[in-house]
Amino acid sequence: MLLAWYNLAMKNYLIDTHAHIDMLEENVENILAEMNNYGVKKAVIPSVEAAAIDKIVKIANNYENIYAMLGIYPSEAKSYNDDLEKTFISIAENNKKIVAIGEIGLDYYWDKSFKELQQEVFIKQIKLANKLNLPVAVHDREAHKDTFDILKETGVQKGVLLHCFSGSVEFMKECVKEGWYIALGGVVTFKNAIKMKEVAKEVPLEKLLLETDSPYLTPVPYRGKPNKPAYVRFVAEEIAKLRNLPVVELIDITTNNAERFFGF
Ligand code: NI
Repeated sequence: MLLAWYNLAMKNYLIDTHAHIDMLEENVENILAEMNNYGVKKAVIPSVEAAAIDKIVKIANNYENIYAMLGIYPSEAKSYNDDLEKTFISIAENNKKIVAIGEIGLDYYWDKSFKELQQEVFIKQIKLANKLNLPVAVHDREAHKDTFDILKETGVQKGVLLHCFSGSVEFMKECVKEGWYIALGGVVTFKNAIKMKEVAKEVPLEKLLLETDSPYLTPVPYRGKPNKPAYVRFVAEEIAKLRNLPVVELIDITTNNAERFFGF
């Protein structure tokens, strides 16, 4: 009886917390139709470069279940300046569809030549998030220690999501201790992603978020093709299998987490 009641109250739809819908070649109607077929109801578009901001905001404004973030990706750090920050403030202050600052952070994989600038711009954007009372979605590639230290030292008021988490179980535990969320995507479905599967098994469920990072990192069984928000279902199925949980339960928990994190 109790279980039946619980099932009725469960959220039976998925949320893709990180999808570059603006980079997909398909039109948004098709993307939404496919999401619907896979039980994916909402998606959040992260922002990478200044040139794409208008497009992202427009998509979020035009479609009820699509939300957006504002921010500058670490490899674009050179383009961050006061004018852009003012633009971000004026967009976010008047728009409820802007739900986070992201994706911001550090990437020492592609380019180590301007680490200091990346750090400076990361700190500025964390402060911007605090000013706007928004959470941050963080990109950290081969920069775990600096990312952790900057987030902790600068202090985030609203919430931290570590997008495409790539650290160890130990690092995950350190981050969770800070109250931060761990977002996992298609990599967890790869056969050789041993470390990621361990993280997926160990992360406290109340801190787990699901994402695709589409068009990148396409999960099994569609590896080699462009990724789409609909495929977040494969991520949910893999993690449910790894944790020996009914997939409906994993969906319910992660969807509640996403709605709590983004406030929608
Ligand atoms: Ni991304």
